[in-house]
Amino acid sequence: MSTILVTGATGSLGGTTVDFLLKRTDAPNILVLVRDAAKAADLKSKGVTLLEGDYNDYASLVKAFKGIDKLYFVSSSDIENRNSQHKNVVDAAKEAGVKHVLYTSFVRKNETETSPIASIAESHLKTEQWLEASGVNYTILKHTIYTDMIPVFLGDKLLETGIAYLPAGNGKVAFASRNDMAEVASVLLTTGGHENKVYDITNETAVTFQDITNVITKITSKEITYVSPSSEEYIDTLTKAGVPAGYIHMFAGFAEAFKQNEFDAVNNKIETILGRKPETVAEYLKGVYGN
Ligand SMILES: NC(=O)c1ccc[n+]([C@@H]2O[C@H](COP(=O)([O-])OP(=O)(O)OC[C@H]3O[C@@H](n4cnc5c(N)ncnc54)[C@H](OP(=O)(O)O)[C@@H]3O)[C@@H](O)[C@H]2O)c1
Repeated sequence: MSTILVTGATGSLGGTTVDFLLKRTDAPNILVLVRDAAKAADLKSKGVTLLEGDYNDYASLVKAFKGIDKLYFVSSSDIENRNSQHKNVVDAAKEAGVKHVLYTSFVRKNETETSPIASIAESHLKTEQWLEASGVNYTILKHTIYTDMIPVFLGDKLLETGIAYLPAGNGKVAFASRNDMAEVASVLLTTGGHENKVYDITNETAVTFQDITNVITKITSKEITYVSPSSEEYIDTLTKAGVPAGYIHMFAGFAEAFKQNEFDAVNNKIETILGRKPETVAEYLKGVYGN
């Protein structure tokens, strides 16, 4: 059986992927890259092998990647330093002789500088190019936006205020759950035939934030109103509320991308891979806002 190394394993996506992998292959085949082994005791208790490494530290990556067949490369959460970090990962995978890299990228329509999320997209676009040029087998997983992000975009005061406040207009988003992304990864990592392919991993239906608001109203039996202000008004309101500028601009950029239907990209890839329907937005939100 192949050796599989999962990066970002102390995080949500990587950690859930490890849990799904454990249902499909034996623990000794699974290794995880962690920055601090002391933070990964729960992973260790599952029987997987911990390897210490940091995307900023090229030598640590080459050392960790030696003998690895398949690398599940979770994109870095450090947006500012992501370009150099991702270049390190791709180069180290090549130098260490990794046979196949599966990279978590993002689904999109607009790849130009005019995209409202161009600064976040840049490192994904570059990483895809580096992988394609590397000579190492790759699979590019173009993830849609995680359903898990909906409560983050709507904030923790949603039920208190009864207002879903986001400048996303009537744009449609094909949200899919992070859990489904992780299960998909576990299947792709333990089956063959995915070399040098690009998969859009998204949902079968797309929803607007008005649809989402209606769903939450139904789940909670509390009247929620969707308000889509202008981008400027949104930025101004969040600034006055003391939200850090970096978050405000990231949220405003994504909301504008939603408005422009950047993530209105539906397909049945999850069902093809998992043999079941993807989790719907309503099912996911019931788990968050239901009793
Ligand atoms: N499509 C979407 O809707 C969506 C939403 C959110 C995020 N994302 C992307 O998906 C990725 C995974 O999401 P997530 O929710 O699992 O994020 P997360 O819970 O924040 O986990 C991030 C992981 O990356 C690790 N990491 C950060 N910097 C690193 C470095 N320099 N070297 C090695 N590892 C490093 C973290 O390790 P530590 O535990 O040591 O910090 C953690 O394990 C994110 O990083 C982001 O790029 C996509």
